[in-house]
This record gives sequence, structure tokens and C-alpha cells, in this order.
Amino acid sequence: MRKIQFFDTTLRDGEQTPGVNFNTKEKIQIALQLEKWGVDVIEAGFPIASPGDFEAVQNIARQVKTMTVTGLARCQKKDIDRAYEALKDAVDPQIHVFLATSDVHMQYKLKMTRDEVLASIKEHVSYARSLFEKVQFSPEDASRTEKGFLLEAVQTAIDAGATIINVPDTVGYSNPTEYGGIFKSLIANIRSEREITFSSHCHDDLGMATANALAAIENGANRVEGAINGIGERAGNTALEEVALALAIRKDFYQCESAIVLNETKRTSELVSRLSGIPVPKNKAIVGDNAYAHESGIHQDGVLKNPETYEIITPTLVGVNQNSLPLGKLSGRHAFNAKLEELGYQLNDADSKEAFKRFKALADKKKQITDKDLVALLADQYREETEKYKLADVQVQYSSNGYQGAIVSIIDEEDETKVASRIGSGSIQAIYNTIDELFQQDPELTEYEIQALTGGEDAQAEVRVTLLDKETNEEYRGIGVDFDVLQASAKAYVQASNHLKQKN
Ligand code: KIV
Ligand code: ZN
Repeated sequence: MRKIQFFDTTLRDGEQTPGVNFNTKEKIQIALQLEKWGVDVIEAGFPIASPGDFEAVQNIARQVKTMTVTGLARCQKKDIDRAYEALKDAVDPQIHVFLATSDVHMQYKLKMTRDEVLASIKEHVSYARSLFEKVQFSPEDASRTEKGFLLEAVQTAIDAGATIINVPDTVGYSNPTEYGGIFKSLIANIRSEREITFSSHCHDDLGMATANALAAIENGANRVEGAINGIGERAGNTALEEVALALAIRKDFYQCESAIVLNETKRTSELVSRLSGIPVPKNKAIVGDNAYAHESGIHQDGVLKNPETYEIITPTLVGVNQNSLPLGKLSGRHAFNAKLEELGYQLNDADSKEAFKRFKALADKKKQITDKDLVALLADQYREETEKYKLADVQVQYSSNGYQGAIVSIIDEEDETKVASRIGSGSIQAIYNTIDELFQQDPELTEYEIQALTGGEDAQAEVRVTLLDKETNEEYRGIGVDFDVLQASAKAYVQASNHLKQKN
């Protein structure tokens, strides 16, 4: 059977989701979980984009053992050099060079002629090849590129040393018949003495990203790019978990296999959702909470008689409901560490000690500590470690007859405590006005969502906020989890404010 390589770009294209900012520790956690999930290639970032991106790519390159690690580079020597520096310690480094080839991109964005684009591909892919054994080239906006010129661009990259050709449907414009046809035609017409791997990279603007990726596979692509939960620029990327399950469940049809460890799927999805702040819709294929719930009586009756009547995927296949026992007050260090490992966390000693301390504090207040509680606890710990401004205290004065007042203190990067006090029409508004004063900011709160993290009357509250920086129009997200709704709201707002401050 043909093996399909999984290329995960959650940390690069996925991080281009508005409001998503992973810090280095979060990126490493996700990378290690992706390795456990069986990913072949991880795109760890865009090293020239920022010192933070460089540091994350370098750290991931040094820590992962089985995955190929790649970084993105434009057709510019400085990008390729920076990617080389970040990736050189990886067990198996690869560079991903791209340049747009569609008329609209060349004319308006690049202001380059076709000949100039071909010359740039030749020069920069050759240069990348002088530093890397494995070079992947992407003709950006390939699906809107004139077919003859696309072949010319791809042939130029292959002649210059690229052995992996990625064909991006950059704006999610294509459909399965057309996108599959592009692969068929390129594979039939390129000339190469070396084996060339073709790869799909689809966006979901018309809701066809997964279908397009599968069409590429049907037409000869041996690599599929995408992101967990389908996060990414605009409507997102191909959701890799959907492709993994489609290939597994319909092996009879696709006749392909992959190295994906299916029962790590749900865990991987939850980790990315928690750290990105992007919730998984309940009806999302494969990983949504309702994906294995049967509501109608007729369906329930059928499933009880034989699950195959309405269930093509068993929940345990993707790691849902594996009778995972919740922890409690009496659980010891050993059970705690085993649970963290089961959830995909690989913590160093200091982090695991701190996490255990937090777990014990939580277990004093909550009877059963579920997987969701633990994932939230770990996310809180990472957030606090990396936040420059930490929430120290929140006090609210409530009156049923008028304005509410809040006093909030934060600890700044110089370890100094700052206190402020403001009023608001409600308690949350009073807290947010106070935090704005402390951060000296005036963003717009565009989203505020609250839900119970788990079932049960001792459930923690989870608050998600999105702040819009009115000057740059950029969004920043934050999540806060706490027993108290006001504290959770303050945590979420402080996290989003930290992201906003760091970017400005
Ligand atoms: O969508 C796209 O074209 C990309 C490229 C950089 C591969 O993400
Ligand atoms: Zn993309």
C-alpha cells in the first residue's frame, strides 16, 4: 500500500489564525504530541518572521526525534539562512521555500514578471539545496496559476534541487475534480531523475479543504499538509485528523496507509484547542463532542443492537472515552504523572513538580479532576510562566443599585505590583476597565464566552475573550479557567492583554 506522509503546519499556518499566538513552551508541547500522533513532518514556524519564531523552531528542531522538522522561507537568501540556523540541529531538517506563481500575485503583490519569478525560483531553490538535503518548494496560489506556467515553475524548482513539490490551494478556490487534475497533470509531465514527492496544501474557504486533499491523494500526492482541528489562515487548513480517519476508515477505497496513531487523535485535538484558544465545534467531524453522540430514538435503538448501524468510527479508535479514570484528592504523584503522560504531556522535573502542586490545590476544591481540568491547569501554568504581567488579585464591590467597582492588582515585568480601581455597569466591565487602566490600553472586547469546563455542580468556569486592537485591527485571545466566574474572566482578559502588549 502507498504510504501517505502527514505534514503538520499547526505551528505555522495554524498560528496564522487571527488571535492565535503560541509561546515557545506551548509550541514544544504541541510538537511532542504531534510526534506521538505519528506526524512525519512538522512545520515548526517561519524562522525569519520574529525572534520568537526562530527560537521555537530551533527548540523543536533540537527536541523532536522522529519527525522531519521544517521551517518556511520566502525566495530570499536571508530567509533561507535564518531557516538553516534554526533547523541545522534537527535529526532530519527540511526547508520549505515558496514563491507565488499566479498572475494576480505576480502582478500586484510581487510586481515581478514570469521570467523574474522563474529566475528567483532557480536561484533560491539552488541556494537552499546547497544548505539542505531536503528542499520543498511551493508555488503559492498554485490552483489559480496558469497551467503551463505552473508546470514551468515546478520544473524549474525540480531542476534546481527540490525533491518535494507542494501545490497550495492558497485561497481555497479549487474543487476536488480540478485540484486532483492539477496533480495528475504535473506528475505526468515533470521530468526528473530523482523521485519527487507531491504534497497537497488546501485552505477551507469553500469548505472543500479535506475533499481537495483526498482528491490530491487519489491523483498521486504522497504527502498531505494541514493543521489539527483545521485551524489556519482565514477559514483554515485541511483538518489533518479528518484525512487520517478518511484514509483509515476507507482503506478499501483509498488503498493508502499512514503512520498516524489514531487513538492519540482526540488528545492532540484537545491540546491544540486549549493552547490556541480556538474551541472545537461540537459537530466537528472526528473530534467534536457530538461526533459519537446518537440523539434520535431510532438511531439509539440501532446502535444498541449493533453499533455498525450508525457508527462508522468507534469513539475508542480516536481516543474518546477510553475509560480514563479521573484523579482525585488522594491520587499520588505516580498516578498524576501517568495521567499527564496519557494526555500527551512530557514535562521536565520542575514543571511536573509545579503542576502537581497546582493539582493538589485544585483537588482540595473539586472532587474529581477530569482530563479537561488537567489540560486547563497545565495551560494556566504555561500561561503564567510566560506572561510578563501577572494577575495578582481581584476585588469586586457589588451593588444591586448602581455601578459596580473593582480593584485589580497585577505584577509587572520588573516584579512591581500595580493596583488600580475603576467602576463599570457590571462587575465584569468594572474589572475589564481596571485592567485596561493597568495596561494603559483601550481595546474593543469583541467576544466574551463563558461555559462550564466539565459537568457537575463543582465544575470550573471557562471564559474566552477576544480583544481587538483598534489601531492595528489585530485580534488577541485569552482563556481563563477558575471556580469563580469573575476570576476566570479576569484571567482571560489579562492573558489577551499580555498578547496585545507583547505585539505592540
Ligand atoms: O497557503 C499557502 O499558499 C501557504 C504557502 C506558504 C505554502 O501557506
Ligand atoms: Zn497556507
